[in-house]
Amino acid sequence: MTEAGCRPLITIMGIDFGVCIQNMKKKLILNDQLYGFDKEQNELIQIIKKTTDFGESDSMIILGPRGCGKSMLLESVIKSLSPESHTLVLLNGLIHTDDNLALKSIIQQLQMENLDGTFAEGSYADNISFLLESFRAGNKTASKSIIMVLDKFDMFCSHTNQTLLYNLFDSVQSQQSPLCIIGLTSRIDVIELLEKRVKSRFSHNIMMLKPPSEISQLLERFKHSLIINKHCKVKADVLKNWNNNIELLISDVRIQNLMKDLLKSSNNSTKLNLLIFTALTNLSNDLILTVENLTNNYTTLFKKDMILVHLLGLSVLELCLMISICHHSEIYDQEPFNFEMIYDRYCKFALRNSTLLVTKRQVIIKAFERISVMQLILPVAVIENKNVLREYRLYKCSINLDKVKTASNLYFRLPPVILQWIDSNII
Ligand SMILES: Nc1ncnc2c1ncn2[C@@H]1O[C@H](COP(=O)(O)OP(=O)(O)O)[C@@H](O)[C@H]1O
Ligand SMILES: [Mg+2]
Repeated sequence: MTEAGCRPLITIMGIDFGVCIQNMKKKLILNDQLYGFDKEQNELIQIIKKTTDFGESDSMIILGPRGCGKSMLLESVIKSLSPESHTLVLLNGLIHTDDNLALKSIIQQLQMENLDGTFAEGSYADNISFLLESFRAGNKTASKSIIMVLDKFDMFCSHTNQTLLYNLFDSVQSQQSPLCIIGLTSRIDVIELLEKRVKSRFSHNIMMLKPPSEISQLLERFKHSLIINKHCKVKADVLKNWNNNIELLISDVRIQNLMKDLLKSSNNSTKLNLLIFTALTNLSNDLILTVENLTNNYTTLFKKDMILVHLLGLSVLELCLMISICHHSEIYDQEPFNFEMIYDRYCKFALRNSTLLVTKRQVIIKAFERISVMQLILPVAVIENKNVLREYRLYKCSINLDKVKTASNLYFRLPPVILQWIDSNII
């Protein structure tokens, strides 16, 4: 047994990196360490502490693209506060789709139903007046602070008359019970969504979070995710070797190119985390994490041939229709086709082979439609003519027979007659 209490995964040249790998994977699964955003973290702590320590109400909106770390930043700040100092109320625009639902959830999270058993079931007006009354009754020193998080804040703006937002911001402005409202959103025009009377009550504290936009920032995140710190229970020589290797990886031009590519396709760390986790999981015979590990995993994860993936996801019937379509397109030199032509070609093949089940026409129509939805075939007319029956609508094929052939060879247990049919387009 190793120091971490688990079996070593890899022991090569006397060095056991299994513990390091286990540590890294645990870190990635826990996903609770915020990287960067020091300035933003301090700013947010200041705002929240103003409420929790001095009883001054305030509001703030955290703005940034999806996945840039808004929730993570807020969670890390809330974790740093002492639990006794505040009551946390979490609302989400996707769940609390109207003011009534949001209000009921606030009441439940504040455990106010204990004060008056009836009002949680009461009307919206009763509930809001009770809540506001409670806010008014509180004061800076005696009342416990409330931190209210409104995730997907923009969705609260679509609630009728923005009544809840108005009342919440109003009680913040009039400094009743200590209340700190934090809105999280990815809508850059969120302030424009607020009604005039709500906007005038909002503190206009807006924090912008930016995802990494340069390769150096992404490389820093890569390093942060993989470097083992001194507090881990890992032998000194193992730790030194592992960390030296990570430094070498970062300086490698291939890794830098990979990060460049990653930055183009995504603006958050989710893909980077997935890549690191898969590379660590797939480490089996290698000495230690290598450039090849990372590039190979990157290719399999993010550089998939999506047409092939789609073809492999088709049913046998849909694949047969694709073969008919490709045959037709080859014979008629990429001329457009309609369902009837393909149906005819498919039926000729199916009837010749007693091993294949002849499917009902309606089912085949559905299969044809699915192929069209997946854009493996494209309609010729941009605007659909309602006078043309769907069976006679013209389409063009967007892929070639070779692709279908490759997919058929990889397809799990495709009947051999179909495989033979691909190469014989005489029928
Ligand atoms: N600064 C960061 N430090 C560490 N991980 C981050 C950071 N920013 C984003 N992430 C990663 O991205 C994921 C999505 O972040 P999240 O806070 O949920 O985004 P948002 O709420 O902005 O949509 C997190 O689970 C985390 O793995
Ligand atoms: Mg979030």
